[in-house]
Amino acid sequence: MSFCRVNVLPEKIGTAGKELYGGFVEHLGRNVYGGVFDPQDPCADGNGFRKDTLSLIRELDMPLTRYPGGNFAHSWKWEESIGPKEKRPVRLDDSWKQKEPYLFGLDEFVRWCRLAGTEPLLTFNLCTRGILEARELWEYCNFPKGTFLSDLRRANGAEEPYNIKYFCLGNEMNGSCEVGQRDAKDYAWIARETAKTLKRFDPEIKLIFCGAEEEWNRIVAEECFEFMDYLSLHEVFNWKDGRKAYLESVDRFGERIDKAYALCEEIAEKRSSDRKIRISVDEWIVWDFDQRGRKEEEWTCGRHLLEQDYNILDAVLQGALFSMFQNRCGKVGLACCAQSVNVLAPIRTEKNSVIWKQATFDPFKYNSRYGRGDVWKTEMETKELETAPAVSVVSNREKKSLTFFVSVRTEQELEMEFYWKNFLNARFAEALTEKSASITQVNAPGKETLHAEKLENVTAGKNGFRAVFPGYSWNMVRFDFEEGSR
Ligand code: AHR
Repeated sequence: MSFCRVNVLPEKIGTAGKELYGGFVEHLGRNVYGGVFDPQDPCADGNGFRKDTLSLIRELDMPLTRYPGGNFAHSWKWEESIGPKEKRPVRLDDSWKQKEPYLFGLDEFVRWCRLAGTEPLLTFNLCTRGILEARELWEYCNFPKGTFLSDLRRANGAEEPYNIKYFCLGNEMNGSCEVGQRDAKDYAWIARETAKTLKRFDPEIKLIFCGAEEEWNRIVAEECFEFMDYLSLHEVFNWKDGRKAYLESVDRFGERIDKAYALCEEIAEKRSSDRKIRISVDEWIVWDFDQRGRKEEEWTCGRHLLEQDYNILDAVLQGALFSMFQNRCGKVGLACCAQSVNVLAPIRTEKNSVIWKQATFDPFKYNSRYGRGDVWKTEMETKELETAPAVSVVSNREKKSLTFFVSVRTEQELEMEFYWKNFLNARFAEALTEKSASITQVNAPGKETLHAEKLENVTAGKNGFRAVFPGYSWNMVRFDFEEGSR
């Protein structure tokens, strides 16, 4: 068995906010139709929302949900998605070769968010549309009353403004998947001008600008600096280079975040500005391109697209990713799992109220629950390990908890010792592990074998604890702890 020691230092990295645990509902495959919304399903509520999905979203506790894309954003005509349903047109979406009937639109999404306990984050279509449509969308959503669009929202049943705080200025606008793809200068122009008008309406809204590689980021950050709250980085994790590279790709992504953040700091320094531009990972995706899904007729609505079965390594990767975000909490301001239901998601559904949790569900849920709060610095001694475990330590005043997250990224069992000098009153509360006998095992309806369960063999003392963690496992060891009562 390998051994590894971690010293927890009496120094905080910063505060991990709830925004690190966002989700994403795109009009893609069965995320909306069949996942979130299915009026025919026996467990649909009066809105046609699946109550079983709502209940699992609440269990995950995703405080933020991005909408409506993704690539779909370039097909989105938001104003066609509101008002009486019988008058909404059926449209084509070329990004996913599907029909969009707009039976679930902007107002339904906001209503769903309220029921799911999540805040909307909207992506403007700056690809095939522009500044005017973005300002009108803002007016419809956020202006109280007395204008054409705010009164239209009220006529559609929403008396109070939605007060949406977060907006993405387009999606991956450097990418060839986007219709209306732009070069950095061109994008910077439309994003800046859109931001200018929106910040005149409300200086408090938070605007997220598309990021990409270094040169693009520099141009966009230079040109749009004064309006920029976040620079967005998207990341896809997949298996193509084997297990080790897959699990370590989280570290490579961390380095990419460091670079992009440092670039924004450098620009701020040059301008003697105290503006803090943080990184928004508004899409992180575990996407195995070999899982192709079912062959179904194109240009229909609600196909089984990008539905992936997740195994223990995917759960470990996601655990490691959350630790990486927590350890960079000053730099990463928000993050959204792409996506929430069916499409590359922790929740899967089928017709007739069939629903199940994937292997990635519990790592998300427990990180969201206990991974908010002060993050503590650690030092790790791991000479003999090929890949170090991913570790983070978070204390939460409200929950009175001190939580250790450990993702073991090697095949062998790992004995670990955590040592501290400053949490003397911490009392052991619980330890959970998610592991698997085989890396090909996945969950299925009625068979949620991969889930968090009790971890035995934890020995806790005044200055730390020891535990034996299974090979390829995600783990959480939690203590009751009140800060200030050392
Ligand atoms: O999440 C699936 C797709 O991946 C999104 O539509 C796009 O933005 C990303 O590249």
